[in-house]
Amino acid sequence: MKAIVVTDQAAGTAGMTLTERPEPLAAINDVIVQIHASGFVSTEMDWPSTWTDRAGHDKTPSIPGHELAGVVTALGYGTTGLSLGQRVFGLADWHRDGTLAEYVAIEARNLAPLPGDVDFTVGASLPISGLTAWQGLFQHGRLQAGQTVLAHGAAGAVGTMVTQLAREAGAYVIGTGRAADREMALDFGAHEFVDLDNDALKDVGDVDLVFDVIGGDVQKQSAALIRPGGTLVSIVGPAEAQPTDGLAVDFVVEANRAELGEIVQRVRDGRLRTNIGHIASLDDAVGALNPTMRRRGKTVIRVRP
Ligand SMILES: NC(=O)c1ccc[n+]([C@@H]2O[C@H](COP(=O)([O-])OP(=O)(O)OC[C@H]3O[C@@H](n4cnc5c(N)ncnc54)[C@H](OP(=O)(O)O)[C@@H]3O)[C@@H](O)[C@H]2O)c1
Repeated sequence: MKAIVVTDQAAGTAGMTLTERPEPLAAINDVIVQIHASGFVSTEMDWPSTWTDRAGHDKTPSIPGHELAGVVTALGYGTTGLSLGQRVFGLADWHRDGTLAEYVAIEARNLAPLPGDVDFTVGASLPISGLTAWQGLFQHGRLQAGQTVLAHGAAGAVGTMVTQLAREAGAYVIGTGRAADREMALDFGAHEFVDLDNDALKDVGDVDLVFDVIGGDVQKQSAALIRPGGTLVSIVGPAEAQPTDGLAVDFVVEANRAELGEIVQRVRDGRLRTNIGHIASLDDAVGALNPTMRRRGKTVIRVRP
């Protein structure tokens, strides 16, 4: 099969090459998915799981990409819950070969059915950003209607999901980002926008939940805004700052079939829009995933035309 592989951590996305790899085999509880579209997060080149297996052994050349939408073509021994020919989407295991390829072996529990009226490219754009937003807001952040959310990077892949889901849940959403992100953040539903390069975060006032995708000084300043009983949710590693009288949580997104179902249902009925900026073929993926200019929105690779 055709696949994108990486072998050199120092080279980052510039070290990606399109090559031939053997098709994967289905292990117990796996399915094989013929991938129609794949998502990729640019920071994957910094994740240890891109380079080593669970035991810490070098696993290069490895196939990056952990979001997929496609069709089930084989079932492993003991696999239940999905059937041959079914349209699916989901989140691939961090330590196994990923989704920038024509086929992937993946545990069935990491997948959810993809309704026939949702395009594969849309399905592939949802798992990481949608599940991260969902789990950060509702599971770790315990968001309640009427609360105020400070959504950092609100025009980004995760941030646009955070903004929309928080607003739908009845929160007041203050989005942040760079000056050029204002329009997009407001368009995705933020009530207000803070330009982190030019506005003062301290002027935002008190908030109940900070959803941090940036870290560093932005996180430290944000922690000071959290009301008693509020939460700082970080998806960029252990929180470097603590709210005075609140909780700091960091987490890594997990596959969850029921939550994928909630997310895709919202896409179908127009409550949730995905943020795809660019779609490229697998043949053009190496160039598309190495943009020379800043690109807004998610890049999705259309593996099968
Ligand atoms: N823990 C988890 O499970 C998990 C899951 C998903 C993602 N993540 C991590 O979360 C981060 C965001 O992911 P994403 O896919 O949403 O990325 P993204 O699409 O690039 O969105 C991030 C947004 O934040 C903006 N931003 C970053 N630093 C900024 C700063 N100092 N000032 C103003 N704006 C800033 C970016 O603008 P620019 O593009 O101009 O920098 C971009 O608009 C990444 O580090 C990713 O690895 C973690």
